[in-house]
This record gives sequence, structure tokens and C-alpha cells, in this order.
Amino acid sequence: MVSIRIRKVSKRSLAGLQQPFEYDSDSHYKVTTQKTGDGWAINLNRRPFQKTFKKREVWPLVIFYKGSSEIYVAERGKKRCGVIQFEFEAWHKTVRIWDLYVSRDCHRTGVGSALMEKCKERARALGARRIILETQTSNSNAIDFYLDQGFDLVGMDLTNYTNEDAARNEVRLEMAYHIGNSKPAPSKNVENGKARTPKHRAKR
Ligand SMILES: CC(C)(COP(=O)(O)OP(=O)(O)OC[C@H]1O[C@@H](n2cnc3c(N)ncnc32)[C@H](O)[C@@H]1OP(=O)(O)O)[C@@H](O)C(=O)NCCC(=O)NCCS
Repeated sequence: MVSIRIRKVSKRSLAGLQQPFEYDSDSHYKVTTQKTGDGWAINLNRRPFQKTFKKREVWPLVIFYKGSSEIYVAERGKKRCGVIQFEFEAWHKTVRIWDLYVSRDCHRTGVGSALMEKCKERARALGARRIILETQTSNSNAIDFYLDQGFDLVGMDLTNYTNEDAARNEVRLEMAYHIGNSKPAPSKNVENGKARTPKHRAKR
């Protein structure tokens, strides 16, 4: 397989680019909250969608509120197969990932991991203590990917997109990777306590 090249690109070269944000999902994390006598009970449980959840949106990649972000693309030969955009927020030593997209025909071939590796490398170089990102309870594939990358759940907003997010099973989650003390997430790549190295990873 052709190796993956990660290359920094200027925002000027991407100005006006409309980035499709698409995924299909067969499962989600059902959020339930309940006020108890002395607090709240909050649960997130993985459940199947009755009908495949299909997300189809398009967003401008370069936009003013992403400030002084850096953008890297993944290429295989001449084909662009993924992009990541992140920004260092010095005041709380945090790198925020604004965008991460891999073309459908490149999924599960290590492209997302290679882009995330670049982000982790930059975060360390910038002196960040963590990397943070927004995802949704409906995007269980992305959640699986982030868990595999050593991210964990750090927050949630029950009404970020609409006032019915919980009922719509699309709740905003914040996930973080803590630099220096992120322990490897429980991964399906570990069987019987022994690490399994998928073929595409061995080549990276
Ligand atoms: C999420 C996304 C970036 C993952 O990129 P990718 O290049 O497919 O990921 P990788 O090949 O590096 O996967 C690494 C590991 O993550 C996990 N993983 C990735 N995709 C997964 C999926 N669909 N289901 C379950 N686990 C998954 C696996 O453990 C995988 O290792 P394996 O393939 O050896 O089992 C990609 O699916 C994508 O762009 N999705 C659409 C856009 C999106 O949802 N972006 C995130 C917005 S929050």
C-alpha cells in the first residue's frame, strides 16, 4: 500500500473550500439524566439506532472563528485522503481539534491515526497539556476512533445544537487526550492481554 504523507497547507490555499462532513452510524450513546436527592445521575449507554443515522453536512473549512489554526492534509500518492485542523489556545494550554475528516474510501487504513499523530506531535511541541475536541453521541464510529487514540470523555452539553438533542440522540460530547498521562484506551486490539498489530499499522 502507498504510504501516507502528512503535509501542512496554508489557509490561503484552502480559502473557500467546502468540506463535506458525512458519516453513517448504526449505534449511539443514549444519554439519561436524573436529578437525585444530592446531585444528578448521568448515564451514557451504547444502543443500536433503529434506522441507520446518516449525517450529511457541508462546512467551510477556513472560517474566522478557527483563529490561528493549523491545517494538515493526508496524501497517498497524489490523492488527498484526509484533513485535520487544530488550534493552540495558550491561555489554558489546550489544543482544540476543529476538524478531522477522512475520505470514505480511505477509512480504516490508518489515515485518521496518522493525522492525529501529527496533532499530538504539534501539541507536545507547543507545550499543550491536552488535546480537546467536540463529537456527538450519534457518531459512535468516531468515538471508537477517539477511544483507540487514548481520548476519554470530559464533558457534555445536552442542548448545544437544539433543545431536543437528547431526544434526537445527537448530544455534544467533549473528549480529551491528556498529554503525559493519557493511558491507552481499552482497545479491541488487545486480545487476552496481548497486543494485536493490524496489518496497516505495522506499515506506518
Ligand atoms: C473517524 C475517522 C476520522 C477515523 O479515521 P480512519 O482513518 O478511518 O481511522 P484509522 O484507520 O486510523 O483507525 C484507527 C482505529 O480507530 C478505530 N476505528 C476507526 N474507525 C472505526 C469505526 N468506523 N468503527 C470502529 N472503530 C473504528 C479502530 O480501532 C481503528 O483500528 P483498526 O482499523 O485497526 O481496527 C473517519 O472515520 C472519518 O473521517 N469519519 C467521518 C467524519 C467524522 O466523523 N469525523 C470526526 C468528527 S468528530
